[in-house]
Amino acid sequence: MSEKIEKTLKAGEILKKVKKELPSIVKPGKKLLEIAEYVENRIVELGGKPAFPCNISINSDAAHFTPKKGDERVLQEDSVVKVDIGAHVDGYVADTAVTFDLSGENQKLVEAAEKALENAISTVKSGIDVSKVGKVIEETIKSFGFRPVYNLTGHGLDRWIAHTKPTIYNYEAGKGIKIEEGMIIAIEPFVTNGLGKVVDRSEVEIFSLNPELAWSEKSFRVVRMKQAREILKEALQYRTLPFAKRWLSKAPEVIISKLIRDGYLRAYPVLTEVKNGLVSQVEHTLIVEKDSVIVVT
Ligand code: CO
Repeated sequence: MSEKIEKTLKAGEILKKVKKELPSIVKPGKKLLEIAEYVENRIVELGGKPAFPCNISINSDAAHFTPKKGDERVLQEDSVVKVDIGAHVDGYVADTAVTFDLSGENQKLVEAAEKALENAISTVKSGIDVSKVGKVIEETIKSFGFRPVYNLTGHGLDRWIAHTKPTIYNYEAGKGIKIEEGMIIAIEPFVTNGLGKVVDRSEVEIFSLNPELAWSEKSFRVVRMKQAREILKEALQYRTLPFAKRWLSKAPEVIISKLIRDGYLRAYPVLTEVKNGLVSQVEHTLIVEKDSVIVVT
């Protein structure tokens, strides 16, 4: 077995265990920060590292929400909660997500995402066009009376890279782009009773280094402010993988903003449904083999 497959499987095993523990912690009244830290610490205890901050996106927020340092916000009773988690072993990443419907009133929304993912996975084999996978996802979601979120996609995974080619749309698009044997991909249908589009909110807690600068301290020597250099040096341990502001020892807003403007950091604002529709999401990481797939997570 190649190192890539072995370590991706290990990252997947870690996430499976963490996911099994989630129902006992994703409960009304729990602090969001407590949930995120629980997930991130468990990944480390089980022998991996977080591949990105634990995302806990609630109701119309679809992705990229993670609590901030000292965050006091708690989970409300009626929430639709997407928990999207990633682990890596030596840079080999697995990525998975699950939705909790705390009120029990949005089961169909969750079921639509689950069924879309299940149908998509059974379609994947080497040589298949991403547009065929997307078509299955969209048709399944529509059969439940909902819409996919058209501007959120599945993706390839690579060493130290949480998002790479191929882009796997949640509708029929990307004709000619093939899924090939040996690829590691994440499929993640997002379902909404809104319009099917997400837009940025102003809240940003997740960042990554510019991939061209993420490999060596040398790139930061020209940065003149000491505080800015310190942030970049600290972020270097994550390479190109996303990290949370709360993971940094110091992160003054003005300095972070400057680093974004100067192209050193990328920001991932919270993505929210444009008509405030509720959003559900499920995700699995797959290793693509010749005639089948291994579901890693
Ligand atoms: Co993903």
